[in-house]
Amino acid sequence: MLSGRRKFIVIGVALGLVAALAVTFSVASGKEATPTTGAKLAQAADQPEAPRRGCTACHPQGGIDANGKYSLLNEAQERVKARDETAEHPTVAPDGTALTFQTTADTCLQCHKPGTGDRAGKGAFAPLALRDIVHPAHMFSTAFKEHYGGNCFTCHNVAGDGTWQLLPLKVDVNEKGVPDDEKLPIPGALPASETW
Ligand code: HEC
Ligand code: HEC
Ligand code: HEC
Repeated sequence: MLSGRRKFIVIGVALGLVAALAVTFSVASGKEATPTTGAKLAQAADQPEAPRRGCTACHPQGGIDANGKYSLLNEAQERVKARDETAEHPTVAPDGTALTFQTTADTCLQCHKPGTGDRAGKGAFAPLALRDIVHPAHMFSTAFKEHYGGNCFTCHNVAGDGTWQLLPLKVDVNEKGVPDDEKLPIPGALPASETW
């Protein structure tokens, strides 16, 4: 005979197994899971981090190691090598500023803003405009979308006149991604580089 407590545990385990099988079955059979099951599964999945906004929220100035890993310049150097192992990313911006692991997106845009005239559809000095690099590279990235919960508002703010501002610097935000109301206007927010 099982003691009262034992019996309770055995029944509990059995019910747990039935519930687990039911979840497995509904997922495996492709049936719509009940809202409760769906919510539980979502909880178990890798939840995105709290919202981050502004390039340097993820690409910190200086990077995280001696090679400047994750800094914007390091990302640039890696992607140039990925295209051609023998190529090097430039080291100086047109205004004479040396590119370092501290460099922020406004400096990148000196060469990677959209070109005009015979450079239309290209970068002004660089082959590609920055938007043509970072839009696909982030929006097709599982890490960006699922781990960071990234979207357009990770990098942008929509201004009152309907234009899209760029957020080159880390923005202080609450758990919803809403900017700190004591630090407005958003520090560093930039109008489109075509207007500079
Ligand atoms: C929420 C985090 C996050 C923010 C904010 C962010 N990035 Fe990224 N960025 C990533 C991740 C993650 C990758 C790597 C994507 C991959 O390979 O899956 C990446 C990759 C890149 C790359 C490499 C591009 C390539 O072709 O692989 C560049 C350049 C870059 N980011 C620039 C920027 C700029 C400029 C901004 C601001 C306008 C920015 N990022 C904002 C997370 C972020
Ligand atoms: C002096 C002009 C200049 C500046 C400033 C500049 N770039 Fe570049 N960038 C280039 C040129 C030129 C290339 C092409 C190099 C090659 O492939 O030989 C390039 C290539 C790249 C690539 C590779 C794109 C691809 O997929 O082929 C990325 C990413 C990039 N730059 C990001 C950046 C970022 C981020 C910054 C700011 C930290 C920056 N660049 C600043 C000129 C510049
Ligand atoms: C990783 C950062 C990042 C993400 C995510 C991102 N953008 Fe951008 N976006 C940029 C950069 C960098 C530029 C070029 C800014 C410049 O040249 O001034 C740009 C430019 C633009 C522009 C042109 C106007 C302007 O301010 O230059 C529009 C419109 C735009 N993005 C819309 C979007 C939309 C819509 C999404 C979401 C589907 C999105 N962006 C996601 C970084 C990002």
